[in-house]
Amino acid sequence: MKAESGRIQRDTTIVTTLIRHLGETVSGEAMAREVGMSRVALHKRIDVLKSQGIPIKSIPRRGYTLEEIPDLLIPPLFLALLKSQEIGRNYHFLEQTDSTNRVARELGREGAPEGTLVVAESQTRGKGRQGRSWFSPRGENLYLSLVLRPSISLLEISHITFLASVALTQVIRERISLEALIKWPNDIYIRGKKVAGILVEMESQGTKPQFLVVGVGLNVNTPPGGFPPEISTRATSLMIERSKPLLRAQILAWFMETLERWYQDLKKGHKEELLRYWRQYNYTLGRRVHLEDGREGWAVGITPQGALLVRTLGGSLLSVGAGDVEVVE
Ligand code: BTN
Repeated sequence: MKAESGRIQRDTTIVTTLIRHLGETVSGEAMAREVGMSRVALHKRIDVLKSQGIPIKSIPRRGYTLEEIPDLLIPPLFLALLKSQEIGRNYHFLEQTDSTNRVARELGREGAPEGTLVVAESQTRGKGRQGRSWFSPRGENLYLSLVLRPSISLLEISHITFLASVALTQVIRERISLEALIKWPNDIYIRGKKVAGILVEMESQGTKPQFLVVGVGLNVNTPPGGFPPEISTRATSLMIERSKPLLRAQILAWFMETLERWYQDLKKGHKEELLRYWRQYNYTLGRRVHLEDGREGWAVGITPQGALLVRTLGGSLLSVGAGDVEVVE
């Protein structure tokens, strides 16, 4: 276990160095010094990193070069990009699993620390809200679950949902320059189509939450025509919107860092700014909505617990606590 984490740390330092000198050649001697290993040992680790798909060029008598960052989610690459203190640092990467939420929940029960992150290249039973499934093809998108251990009451759980949706929306808007918005309760939309979904699950003892699992599916590189017919008119990806593929590990690192900043604020009790951003990014407020029970109305507000306030066409005010609403265009 200890040897394994030491290896990951050294591999991360190697990749960090290569990324810092992207497109340049770093001498084996300088790199060995930086990483704190012999040149022979370094050479062996570089071979392992190459076998994991990182296209490092070894140039005899000159050193090593990385021309561009590959679209991989393996630990040394993701951790080399991650600048957070705690969130995402305990990183579990799986080639395939049934559901990252299921794995994170299991790790949470075994005592996994705050900020433990589970990511898979593909899911065979990706879970959506309300018993739906989540489209999880290999190698295209982000499927992640985060273990959080906030000391909050059951009533405040919705703040964690706000936290995830605000952080992700902010990353898409500020880092990727796309106009993402939050559709109540926690879907992320771009130009009227869903790009991400969030599923927060809670493990509690009595009325006290033990830990939460924040599951996020973000469509990053699904190409045009790549969604199954049942969702193809309603779903989009960042690549479709930007007309170019994006680096999943970089987006994941930005997301973890942004979420960490909001989370630190929330833990200090500062939730007003988060709610202000949530309202600012909101797609649902002010629009006409169709409720699951068939009624229609206008979304006029949200309660501090995260319920949507709807003024029905008949004039009554409803508080919609759970479920989905459809925005009527
Ligand atoms: C929704 O229905 O909008 C929520 C979708 C959440 C999907 C993600 S993918 C990673 C994590 N693991 C799961 O099984 N579900 C969530």
